[in-house]
Amino acid sequence: MKSLASKLAPKAVEKLIPYQSARRIGGSGHLWLNANELESSCQYGDESKGRNDVYNRYPDFLPHDIAVEYQAYCEQASGALGCETVAVRGADEAIDLLIRTFCQPGNDQIMVCPPTYGMYEFCADAFSVNTLAVPLLDNFQLDVAAIKAQLADTSLLFLCSPNNPTSNTIHHHDIVELLEASKASTLIVVDEAYIEFAPETSVLHLMVQYPHLIVIRTLSKAFGLASIRCGFLMADESVMSYVARLIAPYPIADPTAEIALKALAPEGLKSMRSQTDELITTREWFISELQALQIVDVVYASATNFVLIHFNTSNSIYDYLLTKGIVTRNQAHESMLEHCVRISIGSKNSMLETLNALQQYQ
Ligand SMILES: Cc1ncc(COP(=O)(O)O)c(C=O)c1O
Repeated sequence: MKSLASKLAPKAVEKLIPYQSARRIGGSGHLWLNANELESSCQYGDESKGRNDVYNRYPDFLPHDIAVEYQAYCEQASGALGCETVAVRGADEAIDLLIRTFCQPGNDQIMVCPPTYGMYEFCADAFSVNTLAVPLLDNFQLDVAAIKAQLADTSLLFLCSPNNPTSNTIHHHDIVELLEASKASTLIVVDEAYIEFAPETSVLHLMVQYPHLIVIRTLSKAFGLASIRCGFLMADESVMSYVARLIAPYPIADPTAEIALKALAPEGLKSMRSQTDELITTREWFISELQALQIVDVVYASATNFVLIHFNTSNSIYDYLLTKGIVTRNQAHESMLEHCVRISIGSKNSMLETLNALQQYQ
Protein backbone atom coordinates (compact mmCIF):
# COMPACT_ATOMS: atom_id res chain seq x y z
CA MET A 1 0.00 0.00 0.00
CA LYS A 2 1.25 3.52 -0.83
CA SER A 3 2.41 5.38 2.29
CA LEU A 4 0.93 8.77 3.16
CA ALA A 5 4.39 10.30 2.65
CA SER A 6 4.55 9.02 -0.91
CA LYS A 7 1.03 10.33 -1.61
CA LEU A 8 1.99 13.80 -0.35
CA ALA A 9 5.47 14.20 -1.82
CA PRO A 10 5.27 16.42 -4.93
CA LYS A 11 6.41 14.91 -8.25
CA ALA A 12 9.60 17.00 -8.25
CA VAL A 13 10.65 15.49 -4.92
CA GLU A 14 9.63 12.00 -6.03
CA LYS A 15 12.05 12.31 -8.95
CA LEU A 16 14.96 13.72 -6.93
CA ILE A 17 18.09 11.67 -6.45
CA PRO A 18 20.04 12.91 -3.40
CA TYR A 19 22.99 15.12 -4.38
CA GLN A 20 25.97 12.86 -4.98
CA SER A 21 28.59 14.56 -2.81
CA ALA A 22 32.10 13.15 -2.81
CA ARG A 23 31.66 11.80 0.72
CA ARG A 24 28.38 10.09 -0.21
CA ILE A 25 29.93 8.40 -3.26
CA GLY A 26 32.78 7.30 -0.97
CA GLY A 27 35.30 4.68 -2.10
CA SER A 28 38.38 3.11 -0.57
CA GLY A 29 42.00 4.05 -1.03
CA HIS A 30 44.90 5.75 0.65
CA LEU A 31 44.85 9.02 -1.31
CA TRP A 32 41.68 11.08 -1.09
CA LEU A 33 41.71 13.44 -4.04
CA ASN A 34 38.00 13.44 -4.82
CA ALA A 35 36.49 16.47 -3.03
CA ASN A 36 38.72 19.42 -3.93
CA GLU A 37 39.80 19.72 -0.30
CA LEU A 38 43.29 20.80 0.77
CA GLU A 39 45.11 17.61 1.57
CA SER A 40 46.69 18.93 4.71
CA SER A 41 45.83 21.94 6.81
CA CYS A 42 46.28 22.16 10.51
CA GLN A 43 46.12 25.91 10.55
CA TYR A 44 43.16 25.94 12.95
CA GLY A 45 43.48 22.57 14.66
CA ASP A 46 46.01 20.12 16.02
CA GLU A 47 46.79 17.40 13.49
CA SER A 48 48.38 15.20 16.17
CA LYS A 49 44.91 14.76 17.74
CA GLY A 50 43.63 12.98 14.63
CA ARG A 51 40.80 13.63 12.24
CA ASN A 52 38.56 15.28 14.78
CA ASP A 53 40.87 18.19 15.29
CA VAL A 54 41.69 19.20 11.73
CA TYR A 55 39.16 20.78 9.50
CA ASN A 56 40.44 20.40 5.96
CA ARG A 57 38.12 17.47 5.11
CA TYR A 58 34.37 17.63 4.54
CA PRO A 59 32.38 15.98 7.35
CA ASP A 60 30.10 12.95 6.94
CA PHE A 61 27.43 13.44 4.29
CA LEU A 62 24.93 12.50 7.02
CA PRO A 63 26.46 12.21 10.49
CA HIS A 64 25.38 8.76 11.52
CA ASP A 65 27.01 8.60 14.96
CA ILE A 66 25.16 11.58 16.49
CA ALA A 67 21.86 10.27 15.13
CA VAL A 68 22.52 6.84 16.69
CA GLU A 69 23.44 8.41 20.05
CA TYR A 70 20.41 10.68 19.98
CA GLN A 71 18.04 7.85 19.20
CA ALA A 72 19.60 5.78 22.03
CA TYR A 73 19.01 8.72 24.42
CA CYS A 74 15.35 8.83 23.32
CA GLU A 75 14.90 5.08 23.54
CA GLN A 76 16.11 5.11 27.17
CA ALA A 77 12.96 7.09 27.93
CA SER A 78 10.44 5.89 25.35
CA GLY A 79 11.41 2.29 24.53
CA ALA A 80 12.21 1.01 21.03
CA LEU A 81 10.98 3.55 18.50
CA GLY A 82 11.27 1.79 15.16
CA CYS A 83 11.86 5.15 13.48
CA GLU A 84 14.81 6.81 11.79
CA THR A 85 16.67 9.83 13.15
CA VAL A 86 18.69 12.45 11.28
CA ALA A 87 20.72 15.30 12.70
CA VAL A 88 19.91 18.71 11.23
CA ARG A 89 21.04 22.31 11.75
CA GLY A 90 18.66 23.03 14.58
CA ALA A 91 14.96 22.20 14.81
CA ASP A 92 14.42 25.17 12.49
CA GLU A 93 16.04 23.29 9.62
CA ALA A 94 13.76 20.31 10.29
CA ILE A 95 10.69 22.56 9.93
CA ASP A 96 11.96 24.00 6.66
CA LEU A 97 12.92 20.59 5.28
CA LEU A 98 9.51 19.09 6.03
CA ILE A 99 7.70 21.91 4.26
CA ARG A 100 9.98 21.75 1.23
CA THR A 101 9.65 17.96 1.07
CA PHE A 102 5.91 17.58 1.40
CA CYS A 103 4.37 20.80 0.08
CA GLN A 104 4.15 22.12 -3.42
CA PRO A 105 4.47 25.94 -3.59
CA GLY A 106 1.22 27.63 -4.55
CA ASN A 107 -0.72 24.43 -4.11
CA ASP A 108 -0.47 22.86 -0.67
CA GLN A 109 -1.08 24.08 2.84
CA ILE A 110 0.12 23.55 6.38
CA MET A 111 -1.90 24.04 9.55
CA VAL A 112 -0.72 25.72 12.75
CA CYS A 113 -2.41 26.46 16.07
CA PRO A 114 -1.44 29.95 17.24
CA PRO A 115 -0.21 31.36 19.48
CA THR A 116 2.69 29.06 18.66
CA TYR A 117 6.24 29.06 17.34
CA GLY A 118 6.46 31.45 14.38
CA MET A 119 8.86 29.49 12.18
CA TYR A 120 6.20 27.09 10.85
CA GLU A 121 4.36 29.93 9.15
CA PHE A 122 7.56 31.77 8.22
CA CYS A 123 9.00 28.72 6.41
CA ALA A 124 5.68 28.13 4.65
CA ASP A 125 5.50 31.79 3.57
CA ALA A 126 9.06 31.66 2.28
CA PHE A 127 8.14 28.67 0.11
CA SER A 128 4.77 30.08 -1.10
CA VAL A 129 2.86 27.49 0.87
CA ASN A 130 -0.39 28.57 2.48
CA THR A 131 -0.78 28.48 6.27
CA LEU A 132 -4.16 27.76 7.78
CA ALA A 133 -4.37 28.93 11.40
CA VAL A 134 -6.70 27.19 13.84
CA PRO A 135 -6.22 29.17 17.07
CA LEU A 136 -5.81 27.50 20.43
CA LEU A 137 -8.77 27.60 22.80
CA ASP A 138 -8.77 30.01 25.76
CA ASN A 139 -7.06 27.36 27.90
CA PHE A 140 -4.28 27.09 25.25
CA GLN A 141 -5.41 23.59 24.25
CA LEU A 142 -6.21 22.47 20.70
CA ASP A 143 -9.56 23.10 19.05
CA VAL A 144 -9.69 19.47 17.97
CA ALA A 145 -13.04 19.66 16.17
CA ALA A 146 -11.96 22.67 14.07
CA ILE A 147 -8.64 21.01 13.21
CA LYS A 148 -10.31 17.74 12.22
CA ALA A 149 -12.71 19.60 9.96
CA GLN A 150 -9.83 20.92 7.86
CA LEU A 151 -7.37 18.02 7.85
CA ALA A 152 -8.35 16.77 4.41
CA ASP A 153 -6.75 19.78 2.69
CA THR A 154 -3.66 19.95 4.89
CA SER A 155 -0.34 18.27 4.12
CA LEU A 156 1.39 19.01 7.43
CA LEU A 157 -0.07 19.87 10.83
CA PHE A 158 2.48 21.47 13.17
CA LEU A 159 1.83 20.98 16.88
CA CYS A 160 4.20 22.29 19.50
CA SER A 161 4.29 20.59 22.89
CA PRO A 162 5.37 22.04 25.24
CA ASN A 163 4.23 25.07 23.27
CA ASN A 164 6.17 28.27 22.72
CA PRO A 165 5.05 30.91 23.83
CA THR A 166 2.17 29.57 25.97
CA SER A 167 4.50 27.19 27.89
CA ASN A 168 1.90 24.43 28.37
CA THR A 169 1.83 20.88 27.04
CA ILE A 170 -0.89 19.75 24.67
CA HIS A 171 -3.27 17.06 25.92
CA HIS A 172 -2.00 13.63 24.92
CA HIS A 173 -5.49 12.37 24.12
CA ASP A 174 -5.99 15.24 21.67
CA ILE A 175 -2.81 14.34 19.79
CA VAL A 176 -3.92 10.69 19.63
CA GLU A 177 -7.35 11.72 18.37
CA LEU A 178 -5.74 13.81 15.62
CA LEU A 179 -3.34 11.01 14.71
CA GLU A 180 -6.33 8.72 14.26
CA ALA A 181 -8.19 11.29 12.15
CA SER A 182 -5.26 12.20 9.89
CA LYS A 183 -3.99 8.79 8.79
CA ALA A 184 -5.08 9.23 5.19
CA SER A 185 -4.48 12.94 4.77
CA THR A 186 -1.93 14.72 6.93
CA LEU A 187 1.52 14.21 8.40
CA ILE A 188 1.50 15.36 12.03
CA VAL A 189 4.67 17.06 13.23
CA VAL A 190 5.12 17.42 16.98
CA ASP A 191 7.81 19.95 17.86
CA GLU A 192 9.30 18.77 21.16
CA ALA A 193 12.01 21.44 21.44
CA TYR A 194 11.28 21.85 25.19
CA ILE A 195 10.54 18.21 25.98
CA GLU A 196 13.31 17.76 28.58
CA PHE A 197 11.30 20.08 30.84
CA ALA A 198 8.30 17.69 30.69
CA PRO A 199 9.76 14.38 29.44
CA GLU A 200 6.77 12.30 30.51
CA THR A 201 4.63 14.09 27.90
CA SER A 202 6.67 13.06 24.85
CA VAL A 203 4.75 11.43 22.02
CA LEU A 204 7.76 9.51 20.71
CA HIS A 205 6.35 6.15 21.85
CA LEU A 206 3.41 6.70 19.47
CA MET A 207 5.66 6.51 16.41
CA VAL A 208 5.53 2.71 16.36
CA GLN A 209 1.77 2.89 15.95
CA TYR A 210 1.51 5.99 13.74
CA PRO A 211 4.02 6.16 10.85
CA HIS A 212 2.63 9.58 9.88
CA LEU A 213 3.86 11.11 13.17
CA ILE A 214 7.08 13.11 12.93
CA VAL A 215 8.94 14.45 15.97
CA ILE A 216 11.37 17.38 16.02
CA ARG A 217 13.93 17.80 18.80
CA THR A 218 16.88 20.08 19.55
CA LEU A 219 20.03 20.49 21.62
CA SER A 220 19.36 24.26 21.85
CA LYS A 221 17.20 24.27 24.97
CA ALA A 222 17.78 21.89 27.92
CA PHE A 223 21.18 20.82 26.56
CA GLY A 224 22.25 24.48 26.48
CA LEU A 225 23.85 24.21 23.03
CA ALA A 226 21.96 26.78 20.95
CA SER A 227 25.13 28.04 19.28
CA ILE A 228 26.20 24.70 17.77
CA ARG A 229 22.96 24.48 15.71
CA CYS A 230 22.02 20.85 16.17
CA GLY A 231 18.54 19.40 16.11
CA PHE A 232 16.95 16.10 15.15
CA LEU A 233 14.16 14.94 12.93
CA MET A 234 12.65 11.57 13.85
CA ALA A 235 10.27 9.82 11.49
CA ASP A 236 9.23 6.57 9.92
CA GLU A 237 11.37 5.29 7.07
CA SER A 238 8.56 6.09 4.59
CA VAL A 239 8.81 9.78 5.56
CA MET A 240 12.56 9.88 5.90
CA SER A 241 13.20 8.43 2.45
CA TYR A 242 11.72 11.66 1.00
CA VAL A 243 13.24 14.10 3.50
CA ALA A 244 16.68 12.58 2.92
CA ARG A 245 16.55 13.67 -0.73
CA LEU A 246 16.53 17.34 0.28
CA ILE A 247 19.04 17.35 3.13
CA ALA A 248 22.06 19.53 2.34
CA PRO A 249 25.19 17.56 1.38
CA TYR A 250 27.17 18.10 4.62
CA PRO A 251 24.61 19.31 7.14
CA ILE A 252 26.58 19.05 10.36
CA ALA A 253 30.01 20.64 10.84
CA ASP A 254 32.62 18.47 12.57
CA PRO A 255 33.00 20.77 15.63
CA THR A 256 29.21 20.60 16.10
CA ALA A 257 29.24 16.81 15.83
CA GLU A 258 32.06 16.54 18.40
CA ILE A 259 30.24 18.71 20.93
CA ALA A 260 26.91 16.94 20.30
CA LEU A 261 28.54 13.56 20.94
CA LYS A 262 29.94 14.81 24.26
CA ALA A 263 26.51 16.13 25.24
CA LEU A 264 24.89 12.77 24.46
CA ALA A 265 27.50 10.69 26.34
CA PRO A 266 26.49 9.56 29.89
CA GLU A 267 28.34 12.47 31.60
CA GLY A 268 26.71 15.00 29.26
CA LEU A 269 23.24 13.60 29.87
CA LYS A 270 23.82 13.62 33.62
CA SER A 271 24.80 17.27 33.56
CA MET A 272 21.85 18.19 31.30
CA ARG A 273 19.47 16.49 33.74
CA SER A 274 20.86 18.19 36.81
CA GLN A 275 20.82 21.61 35.10
CA THR A 276 17.22 20.96 34.04
CA ASP A 277 16.23 20.12 37.65
CA GLU A 278 17.93 23.27 38.87
CA LEU A 279 16.20 25.40 36.23
CA ILE A 280 12.80 23.96 37.16
CA THR A 281 13.43 24.82 40.84
CA THR A 282 14.36 28.40 39.89
CA ARG A 283 11.35 28.64 37.56
CA GLU A 284 8.87 27.53 40.23
CA TRP A 285 10.38 29.94 42.80
CA PHE A 286 10.23 32.79 40.22
CA ILE A 287 6.59 31.98 39.41
CA SER A 288 5.56 32.05 43.06
CA GLU A 289 7.33 35.38 43.61
CA LEU A 290 5.70 36.86 40.49
CA GLN A 291 2.26 35.83 41.67
CA ALA A 292 2.67 38.11 44.68
CA LEU A 293 3.17 41.22 42.51
CA GLN A 294 0.28 43.62 42.01
CA ILE A 295 1.03 44.24 38.36
CA VAL A 296 0.81 40.52 37.59
CA ASP A 297 -2.54 39.18 36.52
CA VAL A 298 -1.63 35.58 35.60
CA VAL A 299 1.57 33.59 35.42
CA TYR A 300 0.78 30.58 33.30
CA ALA A 301 1.98 27.17 34.52
CA SER A 302 5.13 26.31 32.61
CA ALA A 303 6.50 23.04 31.21
CA THR A 304 9.43 24.88 29.59
CA ASN A 305 12.45 27.05 30.39
CA PHE A 306 10.42 30.25 30.22
CA VAL A 307 7.32 31.77 31.73
CA LEU A 308 4.48 33.65 30.10
CA ILE A 309 3.10 36.46 32.23
CA HIS A 310 -0.08 38.44 31.73
CA PHE A 311 0.30 41.88 33.31
CA ASN A 312 -2.69 43.89 34.42
CA THR A 313 -1.36 47.19 33.18
CA SER A 314 -1.76 48.58 29.70
CA ASN A 315 1.75 50.07 29.87
CA SER A 316 4.41 47.94 28.26
CA ILE A 317 6.29 45.97 30.89
CA TYR A 318 8.55 44.83 28.10
CA ASP A 319 9.60 48.46 27.46
CA TYR A 320 9.94 49.11 31.18
CA LEU A 321 12.26 46.13 31.65
CA LEU A 322 14.33 47.32 28.69
CA THR A 323 15.01 50.58 30.54
CA LYS A 324 16.51 48.41 33.29
CA GLY A 325 18.70 46.57 30.80
CA ILE A 326 16.57 43.41 30.93
CA VAL A 327 15.60 42.05 27.52
CA THR A 328 12.52 39.85 27.46
CA ARG A 329 10.12 38.88 24.69
CA ASN A 330 7.11 41.06 24.05
CA GLN A 331 4.06 38.96 23.06
CA ALA A 332 1.61 41.86 22.86
CA HIS A 333 1.33 41.60 19.05
CA GLU A 334 -0.09 38.05 19.27
CA SER A 335 -3.83 37.63 19.43
CA MET A 336 -4.81 36.17 22.85
CA LEU A 337 -1.57 37.49 24.35
CA GLU A 338 -2.20 41.20 24.75
CA HIS A 339 -0.27 42.50 27.82
CA CYS A 340 1.82 39.32 27.88
CA VAL A 341 5.58 39.07 28.18
CA ARG A 342 7.65 35.92 27.89
CA ILE A 343 10.67 35.66 30.18
CA SER A 344 13.35 32.97 29.83
CA ILE A 345 14.53 31.42 33.08
CA GLY A 346 18.17 32.22 33.69
CA SER A 347 20.32 31.91 36.81
CA LYS A 348 18.82 32.61 40.23
CA ASN A 349 20.69 35.96 40.24
CA SER A 350 19.26 36.98 36.87
CA MET A 351 15.75 36.13 38.03
CA LEU A 352 16.27 38.03 41.31
CA GLU A 353 17.35 41.11 39.37
CA THR A 354 14.29 40.79 37.11
CA LEU A 355 12.01 40.37 40.11
CA ASN A 356 13.52 43.42 41.83
CA ALA A 357 12.95 45.48 38.69
CA LEU A 358 9.30 44.36 38.55
CA GLN A 359 8.84 45.09 42.27
CA GLN A 360 10.09 48.65 41.66
CA TYR A 361 7.56 49.22 38.87
CA GLN A 362 4.96 51.86 39.60
C1 LIG B 1 9.17 25.46 19.64
C2 LIG B 1 10.49 25.70 19.05
N1 LIG B 1 10.90 24.90 18.06
C3 LIG B 1 12.10 25.08 17.48
C4 LIG B 1 12.95 26.09 17.89
C5 LIG B 1 14.25 26.26 17.18
O1 LIG B 1 15.19 25.39 17.70
P1 LIG B 1 16.65 25.30 17.09
O2 LIG B 1 17.51 26.23 17.88
O3 LIG B 1 17.04 23.87 17.30
O4 LIG B 1 16.59 25.67 15.65
C6 LIG B 1 12.56 26.94 18.92
C7 LIG B 1 13.44 28.03 19.36
O5 LIG B 1 13.12 28.91 20.11
C8 LIG B 1 11.29 26.74 19.51
O6 LIG B 1 10.85 27.54 20.49
